[in-house]
Amino acid sequence: MANIVVVGAQWGDEGKAKITDLLSKDANFIIRYQGGCNAGHTVVVGDETFKFHLIPSGVLNKNKKCFIGSGVVIHPETFKREVDDLKNRNIDLSNLKISPLASITMPYHIDLDSASESSQNENKIGTTKKGIGPTYADKIARVGLKIQDLYDEELSDKLDKILPLKNDILTKIYGLKPYSKEEILKLCKDYAQIFEPYFCENWQDMLIEAKKNGKILFEGAQGVMLDVDFGTYPYVTSSNPIAGGASTGSGLGPNVINEIIGVFKAYITRVGEGPFVTELDNEIGGKIQTIGAEFGTTTGRPRRCGWFDTLVAKYAVLVSGITQIALTKIDVFDSFDEIKLCTAYRDVKNGKVYKTYPTNISLHKHLEPIYETFDGWKEDISKITNYKDLPSNLIKYIKRIEEIVGVKVNIISVGPKREQTIILKKPF
Ligand code: GDP
Ligand code: IMO
Ligand code: MG
Repeated sequence: MANIVVVGAQWGDEGKAKITDLLSKDANFIIRYQGGCNAGHTVVVGDETFKFHLIPSGVLNKNKKCFIGSGVVIHPETFKREVDDLKNRNIDLSNLKISPLASITMPYHIDLDSASESSQNENKIGTTKKGIGPTYADKIARVGLKIQDLYDEELSDKLDKILPLKNDILTKIYGLKPYSKEEILKLCKDYAQIFEPYFCENWQDMLIEAKKNGKILFEGAQGVMLDVDFGTYPYVTSSNPIAGGASTGSGLGPNVINEIIGVFKAYITRVGEGPFVTELDNEIGGKIQTIGAEFGTTTGRPRRCGWFDTLVAKYAVLVSGITQIALTKIDVFDSFDEIKLCTAYRDVKNGKVYKTYPTNISLHKHLEPIYETFDGWKEDISKITNYKDLPSNLIKYIKRIEEIVGVKVNIISVGPKREQTIILKKPF
């Protein structure tokens, strides 16, 4: 019985949530393994749209155990809003559990994220300002708070160590207001109540059971190119979205994972700053943005758009061990006369041609994409449910991606709804 990771293979927003929701039908256990409320995961069921930030996108499928793993950073107020919204919509959350080891995003993390971004101007990352970087920084610096700390008799002592450090930075560097210990203790009391129904003390037994039953689905947030170790550093998020993060962020060792589904959009989008060689700062990019409704789920910011980049794809396959591809939003090209695929970069300074992704991003300022061009199919594919009914020009485009990247496309998504999906071989 397979256990599967769903990983974003570009710069996020590839449609991971749609694929996670779809596969959850056949899964027993769904684990979100990293990121925080910077993620915006959209699932469309019939006429209803659900937007998840922290809760696994599999939760809409009845009787599935859902787990927020130790690699996730949780903003309690956002979690509560998400819970309330789902309850109001009659979604059962009795199977939702949270790791005691997950980190908490505190109000000062959000202050520091915003202040750092505002003070940088030209050097800003373009973060979601959700406190993600400062929360992970504190975790690594060993001055973070974990969910289990909320119920710990030593919480007050911990705050005595942490708060003066935070208040120093808030007041002396950014001129912001400090937090009193009383107000943070009061907040922690509220947080303890929010998490109490979901706090999973016996998470080890739960994971042992999940391992025995199989069909575990790991849901990644963000994407490979935003990974803190492998992405376009420093224009990245502060966690490991790559499939390896599924182990470190869940508590299940890497030998549990059998398949890794890389979710690729048929083009590329990026929110925030950072290099993007195939970006289309023109009418075509605007057309992709409009038809694809490319505006951030979390921040509403317009997403930068560009052609599919096979260098990025090959890189994602390598560093994430992708074994099959889910290709999404291919329907966005239905009205296009032609579609391009980037197969190499040329350095305009010295003519050097790259076929593997150059990780030194300062080079990217003088790289230009080399494209292969494909004829469009000029028909509505959004109702096609069989691979053999897809237009031949579209199949040519897919085959070429498979050929260059060396991995089969197993899932083709032709619209946001569950039924708008062609699955060649069931992953579970
Ligand atoms: P995620 O962060 O990777 O889960 O992706 P988002 O939810 O942020 O963004 C993907 C958007 O595309 C959402 O609005 C989805 O409803 C939508 N979507 C997903 N798959 C398809 C598809 O195949 N076609 C179209 N047109 N929209 C899709
Ligand atoms: P999902 O899970 C797209 C981007 C931000 C910024 C960078 C760092 O929906 O795919 P952060 O707030 O994480 O410190 O910002 O990462 N970013 C995302 N872009 N989709 C996401 O999540 C993202 N989460 C963070 O725009 O460039
Ligand atoms: Mg998203």
